[in-house]
Amino acid sequence: MSRKHFHLIAAARPNFMKVAPLYHAFLKESGWATPVLVHTGQHYDYSMSAAFFADLGLPDPNVNLEIGSGSHAEQTGGVMIAYERYCRDNPPDWVIVVGDVNSTMACSLVAKKLNLPLAHLEAGLRSRDRTMPEEINRLVTDAIADLLWTPSEDADDNLRAEGVAPERIVRVGNIMIDSYELMRAKIEAVDVPGELGLAGSYGIVTLHRPSNVDNRAALAELTALLIAISRKATLVFAVHPRTAARLKEFGLDREMAAAPGLRLIEPMGYVRFMSLVRRARFAITDSGGIQEETTYLDIPCLTLRDTTERPITVSQGSNRLIKPAQLAAAVDEVLGGRWAHGKRPALWDGHTADRVIANLRQVCRV
Ligand code: UD1
Repeated sequence: MSRKHFHLIAAARPNFMKVAPLYHAFLKESGWATPVLVHTGQHYDYSMSAAFFADLGLPDPNVNLEIGSGSHAEQTGGVMIAYERYCRDNPPDWVIVVGDVNSTMACSLVAKKLNLPLAHLEAGLRSRDRTMPEEINRLVTDAIADLLWTPSEDADDNLRAEGVAPERIVRVGNIMIDSYELMRAKIEAVDVPGELGLAGSYGIVTLHRPSNVDNRAALAELTALLIAISRKATLVFAVHPRTAARLKEFGLDREMAAAPGLRLIEPMGYVRFMSLVRRARFAITDSGGIQEETTYLDIPCLTLRDTTERPITVSQGSNRLIKPAQLAAAVDEVLGGRWAHGKRPALWDGHTADRVIANLRQVCRV
């Protein structure tokens, strides 16, 4: 039997963590499967991209389409044109996309227009907020994928409600937990809180959603809240490039930098960032991945969003959706020891990539 080639589409920071366990699981498959790492170049700064490849033990990608930043149409269109060209020269047996970024949708469209089989890992998540670009990416990708690998029961329910044939839906669990388990020894071996001189308890902060950072009034309100909270609890804020640009543009960067309890840091690689997360007393975030990682680690997560596509982190885990006006009181609840413990959802166990490979063996009849 000739070897089958699987394109693994990596693109942006959250996707590198999802692709890595899959890539490593493919390497263990001798004889029949070759993973081909396709980086679209959506994220390109060292701290947003190469640092993750190095941390997660990924080799240089087989190809980097070097699309970079742009409007949604520019980014999506650019990825489509470049990826179609690459596919024509290097046709795969399967295209595997992960997550919900612009490159996920762009490569899915290309794959299906070329009649290539398409699988989506982390399928079925829905925030039901169609003003989020990621929600559009999820809906489009899931509507056309042949195989939908889901992390949780709510995702299966969403897909069935949208009319996806049940035989295309396969519950495999949460791939982000595979990344954590894969890297756990390294994560536990570094002491980033110590390096930063964080003596007592601290909260970790990340914000990058357009709804929180692209509007001056919203970002100014959040800035003021974080500064106030930092008088009670040290906050470590890992600033995404989008957010850094907006803070500067809106003239909010100096106030933030001047707050003694607020530590502003650059985005860091996966291992070092997780070293900070695992020892945090709480997280304040609008990220999807951090809602999951904190649920796994049973760390209170205060999510500054109206909706979540990961409701299981709220119903079972340690996550709660928080409006800005509730943030200070929620932090008090955490500091007062009144935040309820969560539990780990089923199949969030570090073996998701193995289940994906088992499913592919079945589908490819090997
Ligand atoms: C993207 C994803 C989002 C994911 C997030 C995590 C989409 C629609 N959004 O959002 O789902 O949660 O990544 O990081 O795909 N920039 C840099 N350096 C980089 C990358 C980006 O400076 O390496 C700047 C860009 O110039 C741009 C901004 O950050 O101004 C946004 O980048 P973009 O990839 O468009 O979206 P994210 O907000 O990162």
